[in-house]
Amino acid sequence: MQPISLTQHLIEEQRRHANVNAELRLLVEVVARACKRISIALGKGALGGVLGEAGTGNVQGEAQKKLDVISNEILLEANAWGGHLAACASEEMADPYPIPDVYPKGNYLLLFDPLDGSSNIDVNISVGTIFSVLRCPEGVVNPTEKEFLQPGTQQVAAGYCAYGPNTLLVLTTGHGVNVFTLDREIGSFRLTRANAIIPEDTSEFAINASNQRFWEPPMQRYVADLLAGATGPRGRDFNMRWVGSMVGDVHRILTRGGVFIYPLDAKVKAKGGRLRLLYEANPMSFIVEQAGGAATTGRSRLMEVQPEHLHQRVPVFLGSKHEVETATRYHLDPAAA
Ligand code: AHG
Ligand code: MN
Ligand code: MN
Repeated sequence: MQPISLTQHLIEEQRRHANVNAELRLLVEVVARACKRISIALGKGALGGVLGEAGTGNVQGEAQKKLDVISNEILLEANAWGGHLAACASEEMADPYPIPDVYPKGNYLLLFDPLDGSSNIDVNISVGTIFSVLRCPEGVVNPTEKEFLQPGTQQVAAGYCAYGPNTLLVLTTGHGVNVFTLDREIGSFRLTRANAIIPEDTSEFAINASNQRFWEPPMQRYVADLLAGATGPRGRDFNMRWVGSMVGDVHRILTRGGVFIYPLDAKVKAKGGRLRLLYEANPMSFIVEQAGGAATTGRSRLMEVQPEHLHQRVPVFLGSKHEVETATRYHLDPAAA
């Protein structure tokens, strides 16, 4: 029997759970459809003229790739007319994008990182799209930045699409995590892993080790203990991986466990961290927690951080529960770690 489609899965979730309604179902399907279009654009590569620099910069001062801009446009266009959104916000836009007045407005706010890992596009390594769904506060017709500043615990749904050898959609509506694989022949996402669970223990970590000299002392000690291996305080050897696309690293962790860390370091301290809270860290934390893992800032639960800006950054420690707890303990209680 064929695995069930994303549509059937969402209809079944709607029957079981009050927070999944027709509007949210439409929203997820529209995002999934946009991700299929992004996947097709990526797949064309040099033949489609989509590689390389866009020649523009985003609000964070980062140079945009053509595919950052294309993916952002695909997501905006797909989501504008359905009547399910009050507004959206993106890594690639300074301010929230209001739904044009010609279309009806809905009850949700959508945030996205249209193309995550964009330094990997031109070298043909996996990239992704990350999204987070919030409720638009009651009575607000024209949401501004303020309405988006909700802690991660308020997310209604979150997901990512991983564009690798397969195109995968990973989704949570707060009832576990499900993985769908794009059937390219018929153009539909099919459920290929239900209720994904991250192992609580791991011997694999992901960190950009080139930043080591900038790390805070607890981070230095934590990684030194991992690297010391079987003869060190941890008593076993650890393996290291770093894709450079958060989606790639998180998907590996969802598949076989691991811990992903982008800590506060001297280089990013003034900005508060490297990764963005609202459209990278929060949706990934929601997925990881729903899969039985943990996500912290190195000090406290990530999804409880009260956002102050749309493009706010945050340190991220996520993945296998026990390892995230251990890494966090090095920061909170250095003596006990
Ligand atoms: P983006 O391409 O959306 O700007 O995100 C890149 C992020 C994340 O995907 C990745 O884990 C991290 O930046 C990589 O950072 P370094 O280049 O510092 O390793
Ligand atoms: Mn990103
Ligand atoms: Mn991006």
